[in-house]
Amino acid sequence: MAHAVSGALRTLMEICLVGGAVRDELLGLEVKDRDWVVTGATPEQMLAQGFRPVGKDFPVFINPHTGEEYALARTERKSGHGYQGFTFHAHPDVTLEEDLLRRDLTINAMARRPDGSLVDPYQGQDDLEQRVLRHVSPAFAEDPLRVLRVARFMARFTPLGFQVAPETLALMQQISASGELQHLSAERVWMEFERALSCDHPLVFLQCLQQAQALPVLLPEFNPLDWNSAQPVLDRLNREHPCAEQRFALLCHLAMPEEAPLEAVKTLCERLKTPNRFLQAATDLLQWHDTLASLDTQESSRRLALVKALKLLRNPERLQQLLAPTHALHPDMPDDLGPRFEQRLAALAQVSSAEFMQQGLQGKALGNALEARYLALLESL
Ligand code: CTP
Repeated sequence: MAHAVSGALRTLMEICLVGGAVRDELLGLEVKDRDWVVTGATPEQMLAQGFRPVGKDFPVFINPHTGEEYALARTERKSGHGYQGFTFHAHPDVTLEEDLLRRDLTINAMARRPDGSLVDPYQGQDDLEQRVLRHVSPAFAEDPLRVLRVARFMARFTPLGFQVAPETLALMQQISASGELQHLSAERVWMEFERALSCDHPLVFLQCLQQAQALPVLLPEFNPLDWNSAQPVLDRLNREHPCAEQRFALLCHLAMPEEAPLEAVKTLCERLKTPNRFLQAATDLLQWHDTLASLDTQESSRRLALVKALKLLRNPERLQQLLAPTHALHPDMPDDLGPRFEQRLAALAQVSSAEFMQQGLQGKALGNALEARYLALLESL
């Protein structure tokens, strides 16, 4: 449907692949999402061809068969603060080159025509080869989220040797100083942060934001990180195929102030409206990593306190979540400690109150008997 353009429009309307898909294909990476730009078309023509509009005022459409985004070529002009403060000019006379000019980075401002030829008016391919993240034009500053996007691309592309161009870093610093970052919604900031947590080098995301002088504005709860000591800890976690929550927990542990770190992490998670599982992973690590790492030398009462606090009998996955970042913080922790503790938890889960109730115990006495059994089972590990 998308490319079966009806006769009268064929000479005018053109649909090109654009943005990340072109970039990733040139880098030899797997292409996940494909975005398309449409020139020479009106919204009415898009609707007539079966595309569904994304919003009322936004010139973007969805192909109902593929779910992929088709945006009418447009120019943008800033008319206020934040993401809402844009006016669009989407018209069939907007050229592909004009549309590419309003984009963030040269490596994201390339398009592929239906005949396979590359449209690269801003030397994105050169920058890809030279491994440079460079803004296309001063219009970069019109969307402050791009500061976070550059940091996220660094977190993803650092292994390929990418650097931020000095003039782009200077522009990012200007955006930080302008106060525009404060107008970003919590959702958009968290979306970039969460995506960065799934990249191989989430620390580079924070490092880049720090270089852009954006960190104190975006994540004021974070202390400036000592990169040299933080990197080896993150690297130890990386070896264990971590999830985003574990990376978040470890970064919070490394960056939170020594005084009242729990309050700081709660403030951060509330402000960014992070899903609860991120807050839980971070607070579990802050509160329990020392106990877990030294479980072999702990009293059984302390072991039971950990079981109870994390509700491990009902939520054994919470221990799994905690093990890898704890191991990263305590490299001497025995490898078999996790499996040994899990065996103990399995034994605890077998304890049934029915046995004690048959002996006539109830209420507080029943609770005490259960507790005594748990403690006995946790005596050895
Ligand atoms: N874009 C932009 N400024 C933004 C967001 C997006 O200029 N704030 C442009 C870029 O040309 C980008 C394209 O829109 O390549 C698509 O954006 P998006 O899908 O968010 O990112 P990708 O570049 O495709 O990267 P990713 O692989 O992370 O999805």
